[in-house]
Amino acid sequence: MVDVERFIGEAIRRIRDDSGREKVVMALSGGVDSSVCAALAARAIGDALVPIYVDTGLMRKGETDLIRSLFPDIDLRIIDAGDEFFEALKGVTDPEEKRKAIGERFIRIFEREAKRTGATMLLQGTIYPDRVESEGGIKSHHNVGGMPLDVEFSGIIEPLADLYKDEVREVAGGLGLPAELQHRMPFPGPGLAVRILGEVTREKVAIVREANAIVEECLVEEFRPWQCFAALLGLGTGMKGDARLHGWIVAVRAVDSRDGMTADPLLLPHETLTRMASRITSEIPEVARVVYDVTPKPPATIEYE
Ligand code: XMP
Repeated sequence: MVDVERFIGEAIRRIRDDSGREKVVMALSGGVDSSVCAALAARAIGDALVPIYVDTGLMRKGETDLIRSLFPDIDLRIIDAGDEFFEALKGVTDPEEKRKAIGERFIRIFEREAKRTGATMLLQGTIYPDRVESEGGIKSHHNVGGMPLDVEFSGIIEPLADLYKDEVREVAGGLGLPAELQHRMPFPGPGLAVRILGEVTREKVAIVREANAIVEECLVEEFRPWQCFAALLGLGTGMKGDARLHGWIVAVRAVDSRDGMTADPLLLPHETLTRMASRITSEIPEVARVVYDVTPKPPATIEYE
């Protein structure tokens, strides 16, 4: 466990020292990691912080409005970059390629915005498990291993690099961030793209976004999972009236975990599962089948790609 007050004091000092008198650009995603970073940096360097929210087109339902409402006092730049991301993902089916494509777009957009604002430094909410998994070569987290080397910032600041997720949540509390944000489930940097097997298209994202929203509505309040979501596995056969036709197979995942390095599936009541399946198939006509994932991590990962 981290000594919250001490951590906050030291992090603020370090951000101030590391940034010098430069402008610092950061991505605010609405997750607890980037929000804690923003709150620390706002205290450390005030207006020299340039927070940017990149709407990748791969975000959860209502995300942009939520971010706006969570940070009413921060001068947030909202970049509508969906077209760029979908273009970069066209024809990409390999999971690592997808992550790389998204990571690269992210960085390019930052470089572009940083140039516009005169920012020369980059602030990132990388936490300890991101580093471990990336250094171990398990996968390229978009905020670490996926970053191209020709990045044009003069420095990168990662104030949370030694913290686990639960420690970041404690710091969020210490900073007085809203409880809603403090206890928000983790959401992967590459967004809904890693919840779609195969090529990412607007149509698939729209379906998986709706399914994610239903899963959250059915599970978050009642069961408080560490993380829960829906993923799109592929097409299967279903029925509409008397006709057999193709529809999407949606997997629901709900896990408990400490830090995301290992995870156990929740033992959900049968009625909850059937209610959720019935909502997903009736509210999203393109879905023909819903399955519940009972695999722990390891051997599975939490996300599907
Ligand atoms: P996996 O799928 O590796 O996920 O078992 C472990 C935790 O990390 C989240 N995750 C990510 N977070 N960038 C992130 O910031 C990423 O690229 C990324 N990939 C997975 C995942 O949601 C889970 O909480």
